Amino acid sequence: MSLELSAEKLLENWNKLIGYIPQYFEGERKEKLTKMYEHFQDRMMYAPASGREHYHNAFPGGYVMHIINVTESCLKIAKLWEEMGATPDWTEENIVFCAMHHDLGKVGDMEQDYYVPNPSEWHRINQGKIYDFNKNLNYMTVTDRACYLLMKFGVDMTEQEYLALRLTDGLYEDGNKSYLMSYMPEYGLKSSLPHILHQGDMMSTKIENEQWKRSVAGKPTKPIGVKKKKTDIKSVAKNADGSNLEDLFGDLFKDKK
Ligand SMILES: [Fe+2]
Repeated sequence: MSLELSAEKLLENWNKLIGYIPQYFEGERKEKLTKMYEHFQDRMMYAPASGREHYHNAFPGGYVMHIINVTESCLKIAKLWEEMGATPDWTEENIVFCAMHHDLGKVGDMEQDYYVPNPSEWHRINQGKIYDFNKNLNYMTVTDRACYLLMKFGVDMTEQEYLALRLTDGLYEDGNKSYLMSYMPEYGLKSSLPHILHQGDMMSTKIENEQWKRSVAGKPTKPIGVKKKKTDIKSVAKNADGSNLEDLFGDLFKDKK
């Protein structure tokens, strides 16, 4: 698997991601999510999922690919939980909402990217630090920023969705310990949703890392390319088949501008 997604693949992944909105949401939440994705379209499409190549998906389009992977994994994992005897206390909408937004903070704030290309070629080549954190942003955890951005667009969530989104990193995040390691029965999680999200995120991250290892085995690390402009991807969209970006966005946003 290549570390560089083609323009066609970037577009295909974006279409798949925003296709979840009409598929799993309705009413006010669908409208507000549509507006939010319209706002972030140009930046989110090219965002990486991490800054270091040995983490996962540290390349343009890596974020969207990761979100799709987590969403599809979580939907499958939820079915497995059910097959193995769990009583579902979740819906597919709950799962897709949390999967789509657990890493939303990695897109940055309302105006600026969270990850910026690392200007140091030495660090890119020798340490795999492909992206740097944008030092202009206020410090926030990825999860805090995800919740902040959803709030900015007035996107509501249930208490169980908040907990699942908050706990997707599981015990990899120190702040989650009190939620996940309670010895008081009444403080234990009342839904399996956070576990499903964590399993899907961890599995996807590990597989993405494996794919990267295979793709670079025996090859020198390539420096990251220059970010393409919106006009480039739009021209590809026009040359692609009917299910292109402009058509899908036209359907989603036509009466909301
Ligand atoms: Fe993630």
